[in-house]
Amino acid sequence: MTSVLEDSAFVRACRGRDVPHTPVWFMRQAGRSLPEYHKIREGIGMLESCRRPELVTEITLQPVRRHQVDAAILYSDIVVPLAAAGVDLDIVPGTGPVVAEPIRSEADLGRLRPISGDDVGFVDAAVRMLVGELGATPLIGFAGAPFTLASYLIEGRPSRTYLKTKAMMYGAPELWHALLDRLADIALSFLRTQVAAGVSAVQLFDSWAGALSEADYRQYVMPHSAKVLGGLADAGVPRIHFGVGTTVLLGAMGEAGADVVGVDWRTPLDEASKRVGVVQGNLDPAVLFADWEVVAREARRVLDQGRAAPGHVFNLGHGVLPETDPDVLTRLVALIHEESAR
Ligand code: CP3
Repeated sequence: MTSVLEDSAFVRACRGRDVPHTPVWFMRQAGRSLPEYHKIREGIGMLESCRRPELVTEITLQPVRRHQVDAAILYSDIVVPLAAAGVDLDIVPGTGPVVAEPIRSEADLGRLRPISGDDVGFVDAAVRMLVGELGATPLIGFAGAPFTLASYLIEGRPSRTYLKTKAMMYGAPELWHALLDRLADIALSFLRTQVAAGVSAVQLFDSWAGALSEADYRQYVMPHSAKVLGGLADAGVPRIHFGVGTTVLLGAMGEAGADVVGVDWRTPLDEASKRVGVVQGNLDPAVLFADWEVVAREARRVLDQGRAAPGHVFNLGHGVLPETDPDVLTRLVALIHEESAR
C-alpha cells in the first residue's frame, strides 16, 4: 500500500492513530439512494452490473464525488462470489438474493466449488481501475461472512426467522460446519483478490449474525469467520467486522480477528469500545429522515460517544436506506468533518 493511503484519516483511525478529523463513509453509499446510480443501471441486471469493471468503477466513485466521504466501498454484492462458485442465483429488485436450488443436504454441497482469482477477474480489474482513479481516497473491499452467506443459500431468499438455517445448524452440525468452511474459503479468496488488487481495508459483513446467542455464535460461526479474518492477518490492511443486532456478540466479533468492529445503533459507542477497540458506526439510518436539527444532534452524540474509543470511523448503524435524501448525507459528511476537526 502506498504511504498516501496509510496516512489517510480513514486508515489512521482504523489503526487507532491520531487523525485530522473523524473519517466518515456510509455502508451502502453506492447505489440505491443515488439518482445517478438508477440512471446508469437502467436495463442492466444487478449481477451483470457487478461484472463490468468500468461500470463498477463509475458507481463506486459516484458517492465519493457527491458526498466527499473519506473512503469508497467497492460496488459489488456479498453473493457475487457465490455466483462465481457455481450457485444459480439472482438478485431480485426489491427482494434481494434468491437462490434457485437452496443448499439443504450433503449432496447439495457439491454445487459450491472453491473459487480462485480467475473466477472473479472482473473484481481484480475493477479494483485496479478504482485505485488509479481514487488517488488519496482509500477503497474498502468486502465479503459476506460465512453465516450471512449460509442464510441465503439455505433459506433460498431473505428470511426473518432463519428457521431452515438454524434447523441445519442445530440438527446437522457436521453438514453445517462443512458448508461454513467452504463459505469461509470462498470469502477469503474473494477478499485476497481485492487485497492483491490494491484495496486499503476490508469489511466482513455478517449482517444477520445478530439472530444468534453469543454461545451459539462462538460454537457455530466464530471459527469460520476467524478463518476468513485470520487468513488476512498478514495482508497489511485493516479488517472491519460488522453485523446488525450484535450487542451481545461484539466481543466475540472482535476476537474473531477484527481490527475494527462495526456497531449498529443499538449499542452506544462508548459502551461498545469497552469490549472492542476501534469502532465504526453508528447513527441510526432512520434518523436521516428527521429534521436536520435532529440529524445534527444525533450525529454529535455519536461523535461524542466515539471519543471514548481508541479510534472511531463514523458510519451509520446499518446501510443507507434507499429512500434517503442524498443531500442529507452530503450535509452530514460536512458536519462530521467540521465538528471533529482537531
Ligand atoms: O455502497 C455499497 O455498499 C454498495 C456495495 C454493496 C451492495 N451490497 C450493492 C447492492 C454492498 C457492500 C452490499 C452488501 C450486501 N448485500 C449485504 C451486507 C450489507 C447489509 O446491508 O447488511 C447484504 C446482506 C447483501 C444482500 C443484498 N443485496 C440484499 C438483501 C439486497 C436487496 C436489498 C437492497 O439492498 O436493495 C441486495 C441488492 C443490492 N446490493 C443492491 C445494491 C446497490 C440493490 C439492487 C439494485 O439496485 O438493483
